[in-house]
Amino acid sequence: MGEHGENLFDLTGRVAVVTGASGGLGLAMAKALRRAGAWVVLMGRREDALSRARAELGEGAQALVADVTDDAQVREAVEAARAWRGRIDVLVNAAGTHAIRPSHELDIQDWKQVIDVNLTGTFFCARAVAPVMRDQGGGKIINVGSVMSAHGLPRRAAYAASKGGVAMLTRSLAQEWGPWRINVNAIAPGFFRTRLNETLFQDPAWVERLTARIALGRPGAAGDLDGAVVFLASRASDYVTGHILYVDGGFTAGEPW
Ligand SMILES: NC(=O)c1ccc[n+]([C@@H]2O[C@H](COP(=O)([O-])OP(=O)(O)OC[C@H]3O[C@@H](n4cnc5c(N)ncnc54)[C@H](OP(=O)(O)O)[C@@H]3O)[C@@H](O)[C@H]2O)c1
Repeated sequence: MGEHGENLFDLTGRVAVVTGASGGLGLAMAKALRRAGAWVVLMGRREDALSRARAELGEGAQALVADVTDDAQVREAVEAARAWRGRIDVLVNAAGTHAIRPSHELDIQDWKQVIDVNLTGTFFCARAVAPVMRDQGGGKIINVGSVMSAHGLPRRAAYAASKGGVAMLTRSLAQEWGPWRINVNAIAPGFFRTRLNETLFQDPAWVERLTARIALGRPGAAGDLDGAVVFLASRASDYVTGHILYVDGGFTAGEPW
């Protein structure tokens, strides 16, 4: 509650664009924002998955197909999102991909794809919404980092480089767009079972080793990002910018893996 009894986390009437919302963590965060009252625009490349997600969210959601690595598609989608309700208050950059391979064997196309989606795609989306937010008096951009925004891990050079980049992009844009009253923060999730890392989670020995490194004694689960995304999208975080919020059960509080 605020000083005057208002709910600081209420997003009623706000418009949130969420990339990577055709599944996984992006869709989970989109649902959390919708439950907090926001109108939600779901973005991704797979039309069928987006339609299913939209049907789940109901009336208050819209779906737009766009590849975040294509600047023209991003600009077109952002314009369509703005036209839907006349504004964009929140952008969550959850589109992401990875490549787990020994670095000396990593195909350059895989390196480029990871950097293009995770880092350049985040930049394209952020810079397409920023003028919309500036013209309406402000907004909230929430990027998605990783524990690899802070910790290196073997066989993840491209992913870690992209997520370290997302952390510095977040801080730089926070500095640059603060005068426009745009807060730029990042959520850095720990390990959650999604399509992205399904193969890893199928290995019980890996899950056991991972769990032993997590202070709270378990990987991330459904609902674990809800509080963080609603906080960073809402009035409650108006004086928070350039921050990387680790939601990792304490993984990065410990020794590097
Ligand atoms: N799962 C974890 O443990 C974990 C931990 C830390 C950070 N993260 C980050 O969380 C974010 C979501 O990952 P996730 O685990 O939810 O994986 P996921 O289930 O594989 O979801 C990835 C999402 O990104 C979208 N996407 C991929 N390439 C795209 C492109 N070129 N253009 C537009 N959308 C694209 C996918 O949609 P389409 O296929 O429909 O395009 C999908 O919706 C990523 O940034 C990831 O790095 C995940």
